[in-house]
Amino acid sequence: MAMVKEFMGQCMVETFCCDVSRWSSQPNRFCTKRQRTVSLLPTFSELKTMLQLSPPSFLKLDHSSMTDLSLNTVTFTIAGTVTLKNTDHKEIMMMAMTMLQQFDSTLNKAVSETGIVMQLVSTEIDPRTMEPKLSKRVVLDLFKHSKVNGYDYERSTYKVDFEIDSDFGFPGAITVINKYDQEIFLEGLSIEGVVDIACNSWIQPEKVHPEERIFFTNKQAYLPCDTPAGVKELRKEELRQVRGNGKGERKSHERVYDYDVYNDLGNPDKGSEHVRPILGTAHYPSPRRCRTGRPHATTANKYESRLNSSDQTYVPRDEAFEGVRKEALHVEKIKGTTRNFFPFITTCITKCGNFKKLSDVEKIYKRSHVHQNETTTKWSLPVNMTKIQNDVEDYFKFNTPSIIHSGNGCCIKDEELGREALAGINPLSIKRLETFPPISNLDPSIYGAQKSTLKEEHIINHLDGMSVQQAMEEKKLFVLDYHDEYLPFLNGINGQEDRKAYATRTILYLTQLGTLKPIAIELSLFEGETSKQVLTPPLDATSHWLWQIAKAHVCSNDAGVHQLVHHWLRTHACMEPFIIAAHRQLSVMHPIFKLLKPHLKHTLQINALARETLINEGGIIESDFSPGKYSIEMISAAYRDWWRFDMESLPADLIRRGMAEPDPTHPHGLRLFIEDYPYANDGLLIWFALEKLVRTYVNYYYRDGIMVRSDNELQAWYSEVINVGHADHANASWWPTLSTPSDLTKILTTLIWVASVQHSAVNFGQYPLGGYVPMRSPHMKKLLPKEEDPEYKQFLKDPEGYLLSCLPNLFETTKFLAVVNILSQHSPDEEYIGQRKDLSDWASHPEIIQAFYKFSLDLKRIEKEIENRNNDPKRRNRCGAGIPPYELLIATSGPGVTCRGVPNSISI
Ligand SMILES: [Fe+2]
Repeated sequence: MAMVKEFMGQCMVETFCCDVSRWSSQPNRFCTKRQRTVSLLPTFSELKTMLQLSPPSFLKLDHSSMTDLSLNTVTFTIAGTVTLKNTDHKEIMMMAMTMLQQFDSTLNKAVSETGIVMQLVSTEIDPRTMEPKLSKRVVLDLFKHSKVNGYDYERSTYKVDFEIDSDFGFPGAITVINKYDQEIFLEGLSIEGVVDIACNSWIQPEKVHPEERIFFTNKQAYLPCDTPAGVKELRKEELRQVRGNGKGERKSHERVYDYDVYNDLGNPDKGSEHVRPILGTAHYPSPRRCRTGRPHATTANKYESRLNSSDQTYVPRDEAFEGVRKEALHVEKIKGTTRNFFPFITTCITKCGNFKKLSDVEKIYKRSHVHQNETTTKWSLPVNMTKIQNDVEDYFKFNTPSIIHSGNGCCIKDEELGREALAGINPLSIKRLETFPPISNLDPSIYGAQKSTLKEEHIINHLDGMSVQQAMEEKKLFVLDYHDEYLPFLNGINGQEDRKAYATRTILYLTQLGTLKPIAIELSLFEGETSKQVLTPPLDATSHWLWQIAKAHVCSNDAGVHQLVHHWLRTHACMEPFIIAAHRQLSVMHPIFKLLKPHLKHTLQINALARETLINEGGIIESDFSPGKYSIEMISAAYRDWWRFDMESLPADLIRRGMAEPDPTHPHGLRLFIEDYPYANDGLLIWFALEKLVRTYVNYYYRDGIMVRSDNELQAWYSEVINVGHADHANASWWPTLSTPSDLTKILTTLIWVASVQHSAVNFGQYPLGGYVPMRSPHMKKLLPKEEDPEYKQFLKDPEGYLLSCLPNLFETTKFLAVVNILSQHSPDEEYIGQRKDLSDWASHPEIIQAFYKFSLDLKRIEKEIENRNNDPKRRNRCGAGIPPYELLIATSGPGVTCRGVPNSISI
């Protein structure tokens, strides 16, 4: 009735439909009884007159129902448009079917039995049957219905008419059955532009997915308690479908979200050296991943078998990459493979491939214009020929990463090491030094006392006349401390071929210019017994080179922790359970699901790809980074000892690391101890804009704690995240409670922050800021040379050559660059924070739309502020000679490797 009122005007409807709501005429799933008339109805002639006087554009009297009117039954036809996205599958299917139709008329009957069967479901319950009111079923036959959008190759729009009774009420949902043999992609349904149902989902053929697909109108979000009676059961049914039964192998067409442990990273069928620990056990805690149900390995029941190279890891169908995103990734993979071709051949021929000179490294990258001009002069080739030659050569080379300009050379400069701790791709490890010497939290019964050998005398001369205690009190001392992360694994790491690492600690001093300067490096080994040595800034040529090699080890430690802990674990892996639980427990109608939706996209697919080729046994992470085959264990150890959800918000993380303290006199109530800390400076602007949006949103839907606590879907979501998705931390006391709107605001802000800003901070600079191996090597092959080493003489003779021989060889380097280049890409169809394609979800809630607009505006202002900061010469950590601007937290970007842009979700 509500819909009819809206369409036709209150008075008219009330005049003739005052009791139409008692009618229901169509046979259907819920209601099969034919109802009789009531006396207050207008006569047929009265009704016909009324409709003819003022015919609504979207309603037309169904001719077939005219006769029914004589039986006092009124039905209306509502015009709708259905939009399908064109895909290769569908085009092939349509071509084949059309040809068959032309050559075999007997097929016509079979074709007529196919189609897309749709039925509208009202928000209202029929009081007599206590079942939802339904429209008649409509069959959209793609071969008979003509498209209404002409030659649009991306999508096809068809007109369909739904028959409803006059007492139907407002549509709340649509059910869909695909009776074709191929899956179709249903974009959505619109009824005269008044009711929209955004589907954006693959609909499987009925024979593989016999259950009706359910899509709800996106005019409004509903808390569970507010769900219209007509779609209440459908809300539960839709969630039941998505949860699945937890059994069997998942097929690629399914859409089931479920959990499993990481028992798919090793490959025991290949031999014992390919076995890796199962993550998600008491001994190796881990977040859970999306369950695939693949068969067990032949030789070990606990492990899932590895995929055949031609197969793909299961993800729910709508999570799979499609279109330009899939194509762009494919193109980059081909480029990467091409660029690895010659380095591979060279490495095979030379049987080593080590860099001998710095110029060998530079040859990997595309030539600059200067070099091009030099070539032209030298060879005196015609300009066109030279350009072609250069273009061909460049095709096999990598773009020059922006970081080269700030530290070109065979090693990282001191000030650059300090700067990158604040504005590089890992700004998350730097901590304020609060105890000197630093202490280890490793279990002494296993690792011994692990007492640092750093002494005041090592650093006192670099403290501007202060004692160490004074410098700490003045908040001038900081540390990059990788001791506890690496030491437990050093025996194993250094037992690997061509891998050598220390557990490093670097003490940094905050200069009067606001920059960080490394003043001591402690290198620890743990091979049977602990040995530690301390290096300080050099005084002569030999100590200069030893200092450079020590810094290279620090950067290599940093590269491993960045990739394994801050990037993979804290963003990709830890978000996955939140995403799975959201799909399983929050209805798509739920306001919190609608808020989170853009932040959940693509992550399951990219994580599945990571399990295939990145973090698996023998994968890119193991082959490129220092921890090698111990990478998986290192991830688990960090999750066990360090990860806490309550510390994943930006303010909490900064305070935990001693980089800030609460201070109501400072903006946002937080005082940073390093004023020019680009990641924190820009991040805090976004954090508080985001928190404002989320608070507005949460307070709109939840007036008080009672509403939060009584929201059964919300509580089930959070409970499942803790007890299933993060089961190994289920008993931790640090999980935030979810009892009030304020609790919910904090939890959601943190989640959105991690999925968008935090991930971008550590992801999109990987190539531009980390793609120059001499400055940031993913692994090292040698320790510092000792006088008793046979190679020591060679080190004295050619220290630069020695340092280069510590780095990955040519092929290892190009392989690494190809991967980080792909990981730093933005897809052409990326959606960035502040952008939302689905604001129609809040068409009835202008307050919410206004809040989103304000947030977008805030991000625009922040973008401008970031640009200003990057041009401020007082901010020496982001502005200066050869220093790349810090743009990683600028919200928007074009496609490709841009070193800026914050996508809504973890999508690469
Ligand atoms: Fe990533």
